[in-house]
Amino acid sequence: MIIKVKSPGRINLIGEHTDYNGGHVLPGAIDKKIIFEIYKIENNDCEDKSDSIEESLLFNINEIKKSNTHWHNYILGTIDFFKKKENNITSFKCSIKSNLPIGAGISSSSALISGFSRAIIELFDLKYDKSDIVNIVSYVERNFIGLQGGIMDQFTINYGLKDNLILLNCNNSSYNYIKFKSESIRILLLNTNVKHSLINSAYNDRVNECQIAESILNSYFNDSRRLANYKLDELNEIKDKLNTTVYNRANFVIAENERTITSSRLIKQSNFKGFGKLMYKSHHGLRNLYEVSCSELDYIVDFTSKLKYVLGSRMMGGGFGGCTINLVEKNHIDNFIEEISENYLKTFNKNLTPIKVNIGNGLTYKKIK
Ligand code: GLA
Repeated sequence: MIIKVKSPGRINLIGEHTDYNGGHVLPGAIDKKIIFEIYKIENNDCEDKSDSIEESLLFNINEIKKSNTHWHNYILGTIDFFKKKENNITSFKCSIKSNLPIGAGISSSSALISGFSRAIIELFDLKYDKSDIVNIVSYVERNFIGLQGGIMDQFTINYGLKDNLILLNCNNSSYNYIKFKSESIRILLLNTNVKHSLINSAYNDRVNECQIAESILNSYFNDSRRLANYKLDELNEIKDKLNTTVYNRANFVIAENERTITSSRLIKQSNFKGFGKLMYKSHHGLRNLYEVSCSELDYIVDFTSKLKYVLGSRMMGGGFGGCTINLVEKNHIDNFIEEISENYLKTFNKNLTPIKVNIGNGLTYKKIK
């Protein structure tokens, strides 16, 4: 028996760094995917072959330990989870192909863990559903990658629906779909091709700073709310108890959560102009208060702010590099790509990679033999 799994990446329209603060996000799965084919074999040596990075990972199913090669740990961490829970996991071979850019902030890592988890579940006939996979990704990220990540990426990858965004409340995982389809507007990602090596530690620093703000708010208001669910007025009441950095982080998270809820309303009304303005505000906060942007991302966002046919633009994902997400009038998209790419190359001596995306379905799987 061969199982084939297709696991997509994700975009996020707005609601950045709100997921691990119990706030809202507004992501969607995309039509770029990692594809797995997996089958059982007889000996103990398992092989994962990745065509996109032209590498193989060979390991003994009975001796799982962390690797020095980053991407191996997504696979090893997932197997480690299942080996601890199940006793019928035997050797297998798995091939992995992908048209999902790696390290571009469109969640290739969650797509890898989610897709591989589904492959193992189906191959060994295990009983885990989508919500379990969301938790498995968190397990692998925390224990094998060292990232205190939220649930946005894996939730979107598993629950995505074609032409729909997901308004997800990360406080209780309740969600609803919001149609996003326009004849005249397209979503365009612009990959800066900047990869920040310290992204994990900078990300975890933000998580810790937010936890400090949350616990001071909770003790002052004698409450147990998550940070994103406070109001700016409440935050300002305790401003003198927080250092400037922690205050700025909290200020951004609370405002971003409110922007996300407003955005979902504007998108429902097809008010893309109004929504685009909130994208710029989101970027402004990510740059100045949350401090997770970089000069390449800022350059693109500033460049677009002068163009009438770009409705909104902001950095997307964890930050420090990766992509901007842009809402662009369809008729102007090719000119826009040409103009911005030329200027980006001149300014940074680096290529910009445009990625036109459509909102697609979440993870799918089937038996092919
Ligand atoms: C990364 C994390 C997500 C989320 C974003 C920022 O993509 O994996 O959980 O926190 O950063 O919004």
